[in-house]
Amino acid sequence: MVLSTVQPPELRSSSTVDSIFASRYVQDPLPRYRMAESSIPKEAAYQIIHDELLLDGNPRLNLASFVTTWMEPECDQLILEGMNKNYVDMDEYPITTELQNRCVNIIAHLFNAPVNENEAAVGVGTVGSSEAIMLAGLAFKKKWQNKRKAEGKSCDRPNIVTGSNVQVCWEKFARYFEVELKEVKVVEGYYVMDPVKAVEMVDENTICVAAILGSTYNGEFEDVKLLNDLLEQKNKTTGWNTPIHVDAASGGFVAPFLYPELVWDFRLPLVKSINVSGHKYGLVYAGVGWVIWRSKEDLPEELIFHINYLGADQPTFTLNFSKGSSQIIAQYYQFLRMGFEGYKNVMKNCMESARQLRQGLEKTGCFDIVSKEKGLPLVAFAFKDKAKQGLAYKLSKALRHYGWIIPAYNMPPNAEHVIILRVVVREDFGRQLVEKLLSHLKIVLNELDDDAPPVPKITFTIDLKPNVIKGENGDGGGVLHVPGASVYWKQEKPETVHKEILLVDEKTKGIC
Ligand SMILES: Cc1ncc(COP(=O)(O)O)c(C=O)c1O
Repeated sequence: MVLSTVQPPELRSSSTVDSIFASRYVQDPLPRYRMAESSIPKEAAYQIIHDELLLDGNPRLNLASFVTTWMEPECDQLILEGMNKNYVDMDEYPITTELQNRCVNIIAHLFNAPVNENEAAVGVGTVGSSEAIMLAGLAFKKKWQNKRKAEGKSCDRPNIVTGSNVQVCWEKFARYFEVELKEVKVVEGYYVMDPVKAVEMVDENTICVAAILGSTYNGEFEDVKLLNDLLEQKNKTTGWNTPIHVDAASGGFVAPFLYPELVWDFRLPLVKSINVSGHKYGLVYAGVGWVIWRSKEDLPEELIFHINYLGADQPTFTLNFSKGSSQIIAQYYQFLRMGFEGYKNVMKNCMESARQLRQGLEKTGCFDIVSKEKGLPLVAFAFKDKAKQGLAYKLSKALRHYGWIIPAYNMPPNAEHVIILRVVVREDFGRQLVEKLLSHLKIVLNELDDDAPPVPKITFTIDLKPNVIKGENGDGGGVLHVPGASVYWKQEKPETVHKEILLVDEKTKGIC
């Protein structure tokens, strides 16, 4: 939840909430930031809230988010049916618990965890990848501390090595749980963690190296295999045994289906835990994530709490206690309903939509594509012309007028001057919408072009010595290229050496 704010008085039309239709049931204004003295009819409450929510963006057109915005009606029904079950009441709702256990095992097998058919995989359901990462990070910290204590060494300065492209949840983990984040800075043109630099940064206090399968910024997969190989070599010489965590928040439900040959998961011996968001390409609405450990040894026992006040002994490893069951049930629905084939079809379809969008953007001639063809189904792009990258914010704002929510943001430290736009392609963003988006985008580009300040026309004199300046269109006119500007010149009176020059600053020329 974001921290709460109140609307400043100057922006409020009144300090009450009201709705035109609700006036059929409610005559008195209702206070906005205090509880009203009396109750109101349920129809009025519904109408008031429903009306206010109309001003939210349309989730289906929210292309900023990886989070699922469409599920089948049968699953919506199951979600409603499970809404009144608290997930933590395992003794009371053993079937819900069983479904979560099935999900953990299904994901562990998908990620090639070394568990045989009769063994239970080690993992938990969480609210999302952020909670999953907190739990994984705590397990690494505890393991490292135990090892250091046993060796009689200090354990007060733990660190994690990541790329500077990590999602904010890693920074939160570092700050909340007092672990230093040592970031490998990205560079322009290479926006993910360089495994060579990451391994160089590892020291005896490194609790793990975190690699990302599907960078939030541009969807790119980091090279976990190379990281594993380099780290193995370093571990051999140092004896530190530094492990790897893979943040597969988005990529965990993409790579197994589209790139089964890509080795990034528990097939790599140093990968000890992996998180994935069920609510991203796991195809469930917001509120579910997963963390899977390679084996029991990788999850220190002292982090597991055993409670018995809800019935039988319940081992738990979560940051919160109560939470809804619906998302877990919905995740199981997707696994059961889709199977490997279904997920593969959805991911292939998303990639195809992303490909068409990328092609359309390339055709405009305005943009460089900064996402990769092999990665998440998204398209990240920047204005080709570096001097115009700031227009990304204008473009994003202008597209809001058509209902599209497409964020513009700058790249992480060291490449922050690069401003990109990102369209996340989800299952419900089909080809018709791709076409519509492209046509709106072209309109907006033209509008931005029209908005550009008029070309200034200035006249000055140059000495046209033969062979010093030559026009591209013969001597009647042409284009001169000078740093920072293009000079278009036109010979008004060929018999004189005085020429009229139209000087067009790049910033005002037109946007592409
Ligand atoms: C790479 C990465 N890690 C972690 C997260 C946090 O995920 P969640 O929203 O499931 O907490 C995100 C969210 O976009 C992400 O892209």
